[in-house]
Amino acid sequence: MTKPKIIVTRKWPAPVEERLKALYDVQLNETDIPMTADELKAALQTADALLPTVTDPITADILNVPNKRTKIIGNFGVGYNNIDIEAAKSEGLVVTNTPHVLTDCTADIAMLLLLMSARRASEGDRLVRNGQWKGWGPTHMMGQKVTGKTLGLIGFGRIAQAMAKKAHHGFGMKIICYAPHAPAPETLKEYQATYYATVEKVLAESDFISLHCPGGAATKHLINEQSLKLMLPSAHLINTARGDVVDSNALIKALKERWIAGAGLDVFEGEPNINPGFLELDNVALLPHLGSATEETRVAMGNRVLDNIAAFFAGKEPGDRVV
Ligand code: DGY
Repeated sequence: MTKPKIIVTRKWPAPVEERLKALYDVQLNETDIPMTADELKAALQTADALLPTVTDPITADILNVPNKRTKIIGNFGVGYNNIDIEAAKSEGLVVTNTPHVLTDCTADIAMLLLLMSARRASEGDRLVRNGQWKGWGPTHMMGQKVTGKTLGLIGFGRIAQAMAKKAHHGFGMKIICYAPHAPAPETLKEYQATYYATVEKVLAESDFISLHCPGGAATKHLINEQSLKLMLPSAHLINTARGDVVDSNALIKALKERWIAGAGLDVFEGEPNINPGFLELDNVALLPHLGSATEETRVAMGNRVLDNIAAFFAGKEPGDRVV
């Protein structure tokens, strides 16, 4: 029996590339240079499965290419806002993602950014590296205490709940949250969380806001000038979700004019191109989209993609089917 043809758009961790090579007729991307739209179209015409990642925009134009061979798109990532899901659906393509395996590591990065922002860690690191540190002083680089403060979660899915657990049980934080649908009472009870039916109320009452919404048209610029003005002047904004959830020009203005105290960002509008306004600010911690970037998690994500396509080629329902 001929092996299915698989095309992988980016470099993957070695153990999963080895597993792919053993099972399939696979085309890997050793250069790790993202494929162009034309290359992605050609891939859809030659492969039985395309394995893109969150940096590959799989648009309707790409998906509508004639003479497609691809039947399944196994996205390497829990987020799938890089794929035009409606177009994939109308083309009869199966799309899968990689939930669960990156939940804890992404929540860790959200917690890390929260601590970095509260305790001015990026600023302090730069000070030491630049040889500008003059020594300890009673008023030197005072940040804000985290323990016992209020954490507002916008979105209350798996990653938000993992953060709630760490923040509540580890740092004694009070948890308040907003989600489009009220979470089950037993879920809220687990973190002694309070649910508010509006984003505005969470913004107004939180010392730290952490964003956990999916990105895309529905949540574009959910955080804008108006919403930033609702936050406490001592509050910090953390984003590990998607860059377009925050209007970056508005956030830069808010940080510069001190409407809020600080921010910690792992994702950016138009990344990897970062709004240059952020680079001039001391009160923002910047990370290069590291949410799921641990060896264990990236291998687990790859294995999850492989399990999904293996189920599909065996005529079964893939575990993480999106459409
Ligand atoms: C995802 O999986 O959606 C992340 O943004 C990349 O790990």
